[in-house]
Amino acid sequence: VEALVASGGKRIRPTIALLVGEMFNTDIAALHNLAASIELLHTATLIHDDLIDDARLRRGVATINARWSPPAAVLAGDYVFAEAARLAAATDSVQVMQMFAETLATMAGGEVAQLLRGPGRWARDEYYEWIYAKTAALFEMAAGAAARLGLAGNAIMQTVQAFGYALGMAFQIVDDVLDFIGQPETMGKPVANDLRQGVVTLPTLIYLETYPDDPDIPLALDRRDERALARLTASIRWSPAIAQTMDEADHFVERSLVALSNLPATPERQALAEVAEYVVQRVR
Ligand code: IPE
Ligand code: IPE
Ligand code: MG
Ligand code: MG
Repeated sequence: VEALVASGGKRIRPTIALLVGEMFNTDIAALHNLAASIELLHTATLIHDDLIDDARLRRGVATINARWSPPAAVLAGDYVFAEAARLAAATDSVQVMQMFAETLATMAGGEVAQLLRGPGRWARDEYYEWIYAKTAALFEMAAGAAARLGLAGNAIMQTVQAFGYALGMAFQIVDDVLDFIGQPETMGKPVANDLRQGVVTLPTLIYLETYPDDPDIPLALDRRDERALARLTASIRWSPAIAQTMDEADHFVERSLVALSNLPATPERQALAEVAEYVVQRVR
């Protein structure tokens, strides 16, 4: 666990919480606990995600399931969840604790729904619901809980959460693009993995809409033929579906910037806008 935490990561979620909190003059000790809690909640979900995906590498270091064992990853993930909850409680805010529990329930519920559904093609709406649960809900909470600690009123809370939501959606869409076009060395995690795992993301959905007659589609998605999977991954990578998916991510970033424009013009707001721009430019 220490190796995973020390190996870094982008720390984008705590950055959002800290900037929002500073915008509302939140008590700094409580804000630090919240930011650490959010990053550990994220870390715990990664430990379990890598176990579920049987991934070998995370942030450039061996995953706990690869280095130790699957049971070790279950227990280590639980331990980090507990640490995250302890830090959330250390904010002394019952509302933050509630938001923490709700977010964790949304994330776990999304994973369960995905597991029960199994691999397959779905409608865009279902994809959006799923990425909300696994990623955008935590961005929404990072922004919202920080504003709540800063005693923001309901109207402001809604605006701040709308910002986090839209940014989280963009972030996951870009992650799904990077799975096709990213460099594993830069990303520190496996790429070209989603399709092989039977995980159909937006680039694939758009490709399926555009080229429904590609003979590799049934071979790869239904028969799970390795060579068809490799060909289909390459076809998607070089298709216009990638740019169209990035257009969707840009659209969510635009929405996040609109939300920001309704908040006070402070240096923190400017920094949050830069975080939003970064989300669609990142290569890791
Ligand atoms: C990875 O999150 C999981 C997703 C939601 C895509 P990050 O890309 O934020 O991972 P780290 O924390 O920087 O390693
Ligand atoms: C994010 O989705 C998973 C979590 C929120 C835990 P991914 O499965 O796409 O994340 P990576 O690509 O493994 O980082
Ligand atoms: Mg994964
Ligand atoms: Mg991914």
